[in-house]
Amino acid sequence: MSTANKKLSSARLTQPTDKFVEEFTASVQFDQRMFRQDIRGSIAHASMLSEVGVLTAEERDQIINGLQQIEQEIENGEFEWSIAQEDVHMNIEARLITLIGEVGKKLHTGRSRNDQVATDVRLYLLDMIEPIRSELNRLQDALLDVAEREADTIMPGFTHLQTAQPVTFGHHMLAWYEMLVRDAERLDDCEKRVNSMPLGAAALAGTTFPIDREITANLLGFARICQNSLDAVSDRDFAIEFNSFASLLMMHLSRFSEELIIWSSAQFDFVDLGDAFCTGSSIMPQKKNPDVPELIRGKTSRVYGNMFNLLTLMKNQPLAYNKDNQEDKEPLFDTIDTLLGSLRVYADMMAAITVKADNMRESALRGYATATDLADYLVRKGTPFRDAHEVVGLSVAYGIKHKKDLSAMNLEELQQFSDKIEADVFDVLTLEGSVAARNHLGGTAPAQVRTAITRARNSRG
Ligand code: ARG
Repeated sequence: MSTANKKLSSARLTQPTDKFVEEFTASVQFDQRMFRQDIRGSIAHASMLSEVGVLTAEERDQIINGLQQIEQEIENGEFEWSIAQEDVHMNIEARLITLIGEVGKKLHTGRSRNDQVATDVRLYLLDMIEPIRSELNRLQDALLDVAEREADTIMPGFTHLQTAQPVTFGHHMLAWYEMLVRDAERLDDCEKRVNSMPLGAAALAGTTFPIDREITANLLGFARICQNSLDAVSDRDFAIEFNSFASLLMMHLSRFSEELIIWSSAQFDFVDLGDAFCTGSSIMPQKKNPDVPELIRGKTSRVYGNMFNLLTLMKNQPLAYNKDNQEDKEPLFDTIDTLLGSLRVYADMMAAITVKADNMRESALRGYATATDLADYLVRKGTPFRDAHEVVGLSVAYGIKHKKDLSAMNLEELQQFSDKIEADVFDVLTLEGSVAARNHLGGTAPAQVRTAITRARNSRG
């Protein structure tokens, strides 16, 4: 039997693995995407083994050359992945032995697939955190740009999806931005715990060889070393934590999406998402569907599903490694792919969004958005707030009956409800007056929006 087909771990077994079981238990179909990390890990391991005298410098160099050649073969699509070799680790090791012979068999000294796979998954996730962070940054930048452009644009603000008070569109964008700031912080925090090296834990108890884990960790760029071998091979908290970060971020994107979907409907018509982010209907010629936000709302459930998948995967596992852990990869990879794609398309979409300021303004004029401003005005003139609330309630009822916004009533009409009302009332009843008056930290005034944008840009460097 050639080495390429011979199983590396089958000597103890007298019967060959059932063909279907072989396929059923294999992970190479989905873990081959970690080939770079697996090779990087093996090169660091071999280098460390030679530093501590377990391998000669010549053996180390042969192993490293062989691994580099394999990496090239995989990059070029020339590598033949074999189900019989089960996973990415054994596929690469078997190929190494075919390429460089006997010395290739020494690579696995002082190591187990258990610490190897745990290391590979962490390295892979760390590599993917980089592009995720940069797409998240790009989305944050896009939001700040829209906020700046639309700092003065007035829209109705909602509670219960009923017109509440006017807000600026820039302020609304900054609300989304704030959520993403927290997401970015969570990513940074979670990365600290991903950035810890299991390698050296071997199967579960450590190894009898005089390994130096500091050397391996430095070569791989890990910030920390997992401190207990049993925990090192069995801990998947880092994957769950990353998925928690991803779930919250997707929840935010899903909420944004819901608003974009509502806003791009003919009934609201607040924004235009750009044809590149929409599709038509195969039957209804008039349609322009907001597919991208709808799909992101839908993809949020995948990420939640992966979250439960991972949590449930871990809840019954005794220490240390169990084959169950092979099931950590697909949900984690799916979350990474979903998140990266969603952030990328969202950043592009927000950079291309068109805001229909006239429609928003017109909508804010309906629904008595400045009613609270009238109440506050009366309070400033000495009316207790509860009485002011009632006066304004009566004014709004009158407005509904006569189909008139508060700002469209004349002074005599308004004075029917309170003799405190004077000509200066119109300063507060306009949309511009209403938003400009909320001029304090965190308020919706255009001046505050501009300050918040500067603050945000400064803190992002
Ligand atoms: N493919 C396995 C995984 O993904 C690698 C570790 C296998 N270890 C073992 N003792 N069977 O987890």
